[in-house]
Amino acid sequence: MADVLVLGGTGTTGRRVVAGLRAAGVTPRAATRRPREPGQVRFEWTDRATHADALRGASAVYLVAPIGEAEPAALVAPFLADALDAGVRRVVLLSSSAVTEDTPGIGELQRLVRAAPEWAVLKPSWFMQNFTGAHLVAQGVRDGEIVTATGDARVAFVDAGDIAAVAVRALTDPGPHNTEHVLTGPAALSYAEAAAIVAAHLGRPIRHRAVGTAEFAARLTASGMPEEFAAVLAALDEDIRRGAEDRVTPAVEQVTGRPARSFEAFVRDEIASR
Ligand SMILES: NC(=O)c1ccc[n+]([C@@H]2O[C@H](COP(=O)([O-])OP(=O)(O)OC[C@H]3O[C@@H](n4cnc5c(N)ncnc54)[C@H](OP(=O)(O)O)[C@@H]3O)[C@@H](O)[C@H]2O)c1
Repeated sequence: MADVLVLGGTGTTGRRVVAGLRAAGVTPRAATRRPREPGQVRFEWTDRATHADALRGASAVYLVAPIGEAEPAALVAPFLADALDAGVRRVVLLSSSAVTEDTPGIGELQRLVRAAPEWAVLKPSWFMQNFTGAHLVAQGVRDGEIVTATGDARVAFVDAGDIAAVAVRALTDPGPHNTEHVLTGPAALSYAEAAAIVAAHLGRPIRHRAVGTAEFAARLTASGMPEEFAAVLAALDEDIRRGAEDRVTPAVEQVTGRPARSFEAFVRDEIASR
């Protein structure tokens, strides 16, 4: 198999896809705006000149679309055309469980990817890794109070490592998947329940405070997020509050052959051990 180009190759799922491809004996090419290591290639969504070099000799692409763009298809469509011209046959798109083909802007990407000869669309629920790093939920963990507009509704948080494991199979299995995979963890939890698990492992109180959608959007804007994007994220919390993410799918185990990682195991291994 020729190289696999991994967009967002330094990001939450992309770097795990890179590691998984290496472990599977496939050569990954990790796209980044600032290559620093062997195996990385310069890629900037807004600079089409970087796309040709990144694509040369690649047979498959893991596609993480430009983040925070209202109309990402304007950048992704020409990239995909170049990719297919360059000989790419298989495209695996990272989308989201909250996105359908009818979702304005970002939904268009799912239609574009289906035009590849071989494709898969990954639709993960919310990442467990939002509880670590720079994410607002992680800041809530540090502050002892996670604020959302999700009420007491549940989310089947999924591990980025499981998303990457599914991506590696979708990129390397001899037969193309040509389907959508809705990816969840093994259980749906409210933020209060998730906060209690983190608190128990860290040995300090962490609570969840539920606020209304407008108040949540205002908090996001106050933290520096553009108003339009804050409104989109707040609306997603409202969807959760209505029960949109309260379901568990068997896709991780079906595709990878092993059960999805639990939130408990994630907290033990990635939060409490640090
Ligand atoms: N977080 C969740 O709960 C969740 C749930 C479902 C779906 N998703 C989806 O997951 C995706 C990734 O989210 P994430 O927050 O985890 O991000 P991430 O994968 O960590 O994204 C950052 C990556 O994008 C690259 N990047 C950023 N700007 C770029 C540009 N202009 N040109 C080329 N590459 C660029 C970065 O590379 P360099 O900085 O190295 O250049 C880095 O590898 C999003 O599409 C989101 O919708 C997230």
